[in-house]
Amino acid sequence: MNQVVYSEDHDLSRVNRLDELKEMVRMCSRCGLRAGCSGAVFGEGNPGAAVMLIGEGPGAEEDRMGRPFVGKAGQLLDKILGSVGMERFTDTFIANVVKCRPPGNRVPRTEETERCLPWLYRQIELISPQIIVLLGSTALQNLISPDARITKMRGEWLVSKSGIMIMPTYHPAALLRDTGKKRPVWEDFRKVRDEYQKVNAF
Ligand code: URA
Repeated sequence: MNQVVYSEDHDLSRVNRLDELKEMVRMCSRCGLRAGCSGAVFGEGNPGAAVMLIGEGPGAEEDRMGRPFVGKAGQLLDKILGSVGMERFTDTFIANVVKCRPPGNRVPRTEETERCLPWLYRQIELISPQIIVLLGSTALQNLISPDARITKMRGEWLVSKSGIMIMPTYHPAALLRDTGKKRPVWEDFRKVRDEYQKVNAF
């Protein structure tokens, strides 16, 4: 068996395969979340996708299934993707800021996100997307800035140092609470689809 030795040094540059990274995440206990959940939810989709979607962390259903965005918010996400002609397994890879479910679906704490983010950074490096969609505040604040506000920043493109186009939008769970957010999110995803069509044309 190909045993992966967990490294504390946070330098994941030697991990060059997504399945190897997944195995390391499966064995991770860098923070307290792992003890209270069923298992880490690595993420899923097309490992060569041009579009990466990043949420907050697994909920109850995701924890049970070991897959991201499979509960009500996930079903809505699939519909939004479908409405702009995209599909999660072919067009995207979906991951979260934290891989283990926070108890009672609370927002992950700084000490948890700090420990977990190196996994996400390496996922981004290995998948190498041209577009990243940040779903909600937690993704925005952890990837862009702790002071960033989703209400102010959604719908406008940001560009990373390495040229990745980043679109912040509301989290699908927020749409379940406030249907008035559906239209802006749909508009944001249309922008994502248009950009995706451009990068896909080359
Ligand atoms: N909410 C998230 O942020 N991620 C999931 O995987 C499910 C719900």
